[in-house]
Amino acid sequence: MLKVNFDYVNKNHLVNFNEYRERVAEVDSMIKNKTGAGNDFLGWYDWPKNYDKEELERIIKKANHYIETYDTLVVCGIGGSYLGAVAAIDAINGLLPTSKMKIVYLGNTLDPNYVHETLSYLKDKNFAVCCISKSGTTTETSVSFRILKEMVEEKYGKEKAKDAIVCVTDKARGALKTLANKEGYETYILPDDIGGRYSVITAVGLFPIACAGIDVKELLAGCYDAMLEYDNPDINKNMAYQYALERHYLYQKFGYKVEMLGSYEPRFRMLNEWWKQLYGESEGKEGKGILPTSCVFTTDLHSLGQYIQDGEKILFETILYIEKPNFDVTVISDKEDLDGLNYLAGKKLSFINKKAYEGTLEAHSKSGGVDNICLTLDEMSPRALGHLFYFFMKACAMSAYLNEINPFNQPGVEIYKKNMFHLLGKKGY
Ligand code: PA5
Repeated sequence: MLKVNFDYVNKNHLVNFNEYRERVAEVDSMIKNKTGAGNDFLGWYDWPKNYDKEELERIIKKANHYIETYDTLVVCGIGGSYLGAVAAIDAINGLLPTSKMKIVYLGNTLDPNYVHETLSYLKDKNFAVCCISKSGTTTETSVSFRILKEMVEEKYGKEKAKDAIVCVTDKARGALKTLANKEGYETYILPDDIGGRYSVITAVGLFPIACAGIDVKELLAGCYDAMLEYDNPDINKNMAYQYALERHYLYQKFGYKVEMLGSYEPRFRMLNEWWKQLYGESEGKEGKGILPTSCVFTTDLHSLGQYIQDGEKILFETILYIEKPNFDVTVISDKEDLDGLNYLAGKKLSFINKKAYEGTLEAHSKSGGVDNICLTLDEMSPRALGHLFYFFMKACAMSAYLNEINPFNQPGVEIYKKNMFHLLGKKGY
């Protein structure tokens, strides 16, 4: 279903898989046997098989109840506690979704304008809230949730608020867990051994995704397919490891410090953001790591395209292409042809988009000398998306370990928080 090809990587930049065979097998065993740095955060590895089946049924039941009862769900979370859900919902439902329940996001910023706008928008909505925070203490999320909780209680009364609010958090610890228990909110668990950026396949992603009317069992089935597919320690047979190794090689051997993930569909913009967090937080530490950036073509060919083609040679591209769009549009014929477009009359936009993709690959790699790794999916379905999520997570673990980095911590994220707490006068800072 997912194909990786290196046809547009300069022949001299292609890694020889066999030279790294042993090292890749060694890292594979570190992942499987949980012996590497950060090994207590490898719960995602066999999650597609071991996830809590009873909890999934509860999630689906409550999501269906929400869809029937409320018109809007506010997902309150930030970073790993939000990006997976928005990535999946946009990727499947598109940017002007027709799903019965509208999903909006809060708790992902401290910008008073956005928070004010969203709260004003919610005033006359019949909304429910899903608050997601592993720690339960993240400022952005807690500040917004405090306001949302009060709005819900004012709107429906304290008793009905028990139905209108759910929380996804640690199974036992943290301020959000304590609050949810005290108020009687339904809770779902973010397991101890799964970090935020690997949590889209847990309740963190699944509850909001289910509320958007997407089949989460299919998404998990796609993760399961990928778990089996990318379990082979042999680099010659494992495409997730091939992707990880080639990008590692471009970085280590040729000094390409930037990877640009691109696609040809605007609804993948937030998928790019999810991927950026996954790779940026997993690999960017100890003064090392590829900087993940992104673009959406053909839109960004009219802006960043110039730099990619002609600018300094600091980057390589990874392009995600979907063979079959869910919908298509045909260019119509015009009697006068004043715009000179009749040469495209009768052609489908999917065909034109594909030619743009092929032309750009050729332009960037051959004329521009920019290596392109190509990822191709037949279609974007919940199952294919689950597969893609797992592919990127598995490749990320391999890639970080190849670079001798712990993929599962994020010490750098903490520093700004400490400074901010100090400036805000929080006790103990
Ligand atoms: O990946 C991470 O760990 C972070 O991006 C967190 O997900 C983010 O900071 C939110 O944390 P929490 O879920 O504790 O509110």
